[in-house]
Amino acid sequence: MHILLLGSGGREHALAWKIAGSPLLTKLWCAPGNVGIAREAECVALDVANHAAVIEFCKANGIELVVVGPETPLAAGIVDDLENAGIKAFGPSKKAAQLEASKGFTKALCSEFNIPTGAYRRCTSAAEALDYVRAQGAPIVVKADGLAAGKGVVVAKTLAEAEAAIAMMFDGAFGAAGAEVVIEEFLEGREVSFFALCDGETAIPLASAQDHKRVFDHDQGPNTGGMGAYSPTPFVTPEVHDEIMSRIILPAVAGMRARGTPFHGVLYAGVMLTKAGPKLFEFNVRFGDPECQVLMLRMMSDIVPAFLAVCDGELKHFDLRWYPQAAVTVVMAAKGYPGDYKKGSRIEGLDDAAKVEGVEIFHAGTTEKDGSILANGGRVLNVCALGETITEAQARAYQAIDRIKWPDGFCRRDIAWQAVEQERVGS
Ligand code: AMP
Ligand code: GLY
Repeated sequence: MHILLLGSGGREHALAWKIAGSPLLTKLWCAPGNVGIAREAECVALDVANHAAVIEFCKANGIELVVVGPETPLAAGIVDDLENAGIKAFGPSKKAAQLEASKGFTKALCSEFNIPTGAYRRCTSAAEALDYVRAQGAPIVVKADGLAAGKGVVVAKTLAEAEAAIAMMFDGAFGAAGAEVVIEEFLEGREVSFFALCDGETAIPLASAQDHKRVFDHDQGPNTGGMGAYSPTPFVTPEVHDEIMSRIILPAVAGMRARGTPFHGVLYAGVMLTKAGPKLFEFNVRFGDPECQVLMLRMMSDIVPAFLAVCDGELKHFDLRWYPQAAVTVVMAAKGYPGDYKKGSRIEGLDDAAKVEGVEIFHAGTTEKDGSILANGGRVLNVCALGETITEAQARAYQAIDRIKWPDGFCRRDIAWQAVEQERVGS
């Protein structure tokens, strides 16, 4: 098969690596890709926002499947346009991508189909939002309705923080994405990422994973796109798993179908394990980054037939197998991230680091100049490792990181700490 992957981050490098291992593949392209992805695929400088150009490329190269990594092209309707041109694409339609592109849409779906989530109010003016938070009190969560590159959520500990967030959003900090704001009850508990492949009707859960959103050790500092992840997580017990499937994933899939906008692709539920049971705080319509990296390392099955089953509505007869090993990924970011950072610093030692047993290094934001790898983004590398236990996988990832020479980079030193602690207590 000829396959085109869209995207350029660590998630797409992991997807490219996994797709490249499929016996069904004849040739893989990636647009725009990155230096790491270029090891697995031919990178093409296509503008993914130009759907006509993507379609033309697919036709010229006999592409039989397009896999869409990030949310922006999904929300822009690239899957609709590809399918209208007769090209199979993995990912939701524009209407189904509303599950990520509009927080208000998701909250309304939750209300209609009885999906457990925090109490909320959709507000279209600052005055309305301020009245609501003052009535509710802090802590409270303020969310821009639309896509805001992972920055549109403020978990306000005080009323003053909530008021400042409302002012910022209605002042246009996120452009049109902040024209409507959702104010949501603060949910207390452990956070897990739950993924399921959906073909509009059937949903197959993927292995469990947990992300680390805060930038610094001990979960301190501002939220980021994710500083590391691990899989499996001991906190998604079989009971929790069943509850998330039956109360969140399946009603959402059935609800989207009932509304005439069936969801195809990978549904990502951000779930808080509260005292009152699992509650949804967001849906995303694509793989998590960096959760995808640990899932790809652990997936034993060929992913290409899984993508095809999603596109063809054939998931009912499908089964996915996983390696029993644990996986950890640690994000190396440019100093300053998630705020301002410099690009262009040199990274050395990657080949040596990749020799550590069980280690795979995915590139998230790199470029190449005169044979050197240079940092070219905020989140730059994903150092991943498999191990018999989370503790072993974590040790291997950090052993590899210690071989990487990049003075302008940093990482958290405690990724997977919750599961490591659990393993220590349990042993
Ligand atoms: P998002 O940008 O939607 O991924 O949200 C960023 C982070 O905000 C999530 O990973 C959660 O840690 C946190 N968050 C979102 N909604 C809530 C909520 N209702 N209660 C507590 N934390 C939340
Ligand atoms: N890891 C969080 C996200 O992909 O949104």
